[in-house]
Amino acid sequence: MIPIHVSVMPEEVMKYLVPSRPDALIVDGTLGEGGHALRFLESYPECRVIGIDADTVMCQRAAERLSLWRDRFELITGWTDEVLTEWDGAFPDLILMDLGISTFHYDGSGRGFSFKSGEPLDMRLEQDGDSDASELVNTLREEDLANLIYTYGEERFSRRIARRIVEERKKSPINDSSRLAEIVVNAVPAKSRHGRIHAATRTFQALRIAVNGELDRLSRLLDTAPGLLAPGGRLGIISFHSLEDRLVKKAFRALDLRFGGTYNVLTRKPLVPTEEECRSNPPSRSAKFRVIENIPSEAIV
Ligand SMILES: C[S@@+](CC[C@H](N)C(=O)[O-])C[C@H]1O[C@@H](n2cnc3c(N)ncnc32)[C@H](O)[C@@H]1O
Repeated sequence: MIPIHVSVMPEEVMKYLVPSRPDALIVDGTLGEGGHALRFLESYPECRVIGIDADTVMCQRAAERLSLWRDRFELITGWTDEVLTEWDGAFPDLILMDLGISTFHYDGSGRGFSFKSGEPLDMRLEQDGDSDASELVNTLREEDLANLIYTYGEERFSRRIARRIVEERKKSPINDSSRLAEIVVNAVPAKSRHGRIHAATRTFQALRIAVNGELDRLSRLLDTAPGLLAPGGRLGIISFHSLEDRLVKKAFRALDLRFGGTYNVLTRKPLVPTEEECRSNPPSRSAKFRVIENIPSEAIV
């Protein structure tokens, strides 16, 4: 059985994302299996939660897990940046984004997010999406592949990795995640092959970000979500790598500067998981949580 995803920074999320009225509207924009959503539903008996996820399989899993709460929970399958751009519902009191992918994606989706053998190199969250990871790996020019791995993976050996991928794909197309992992390991210098994280981690991250347009989506979300918040509403974003955190930090700071008195950044420094959480839930290790508040007009002097 695939283990249920363990929600990251649950205490901090519940401490900072507190609705200002009992019948609050809460949008969980990265529903996953609904761990955070469940906490909101349990903690606020009059709130309504709308959960959004791009992945239909995740939506099914969440629908089953939250079936008891059907009267206060609504599910939308789609990309949250797109859903919020078209939003014509009530202004949400809270919006949570817990970026990235879930335990299910690594352990049970069979879409090549992990280095396991026999998994096709897919990496799409939305299964009807356009290019998958194998298409990128097998068709991009060497220079474009190197740039992609460098930009989205912050991988310093990007050129060597791209060169090796291009050599290998001439022998046969690279369609299996374990073969790609092996190619990457053999491309990096021997002394970098056995570090704290697997040598292919950054390349896999880069491909996943590119396939799902993750940074463009986050930028669009940062343009849209703050303007939708109800007075006193809060937007909280948990990110897992520096590219995402930089976008969130910059966007929140810009709002504070441009609309000072309307938006207030509640986390001058990002909140990070406790040592205890890092130990008990290692995927939480790189999490950073930032929160912005839309100050109610009566509080502005
Ligand atoms: C880290 S998991 C969320 C886990 C959830 N908070 C919990 O506690 O169970 C992220 C989920 O968001 C989805 N996702 C990521 N980016 C998305 C986006 N821009 N729009 C919609 N869904 C997204 C992924 O498919 C994945 O299921």
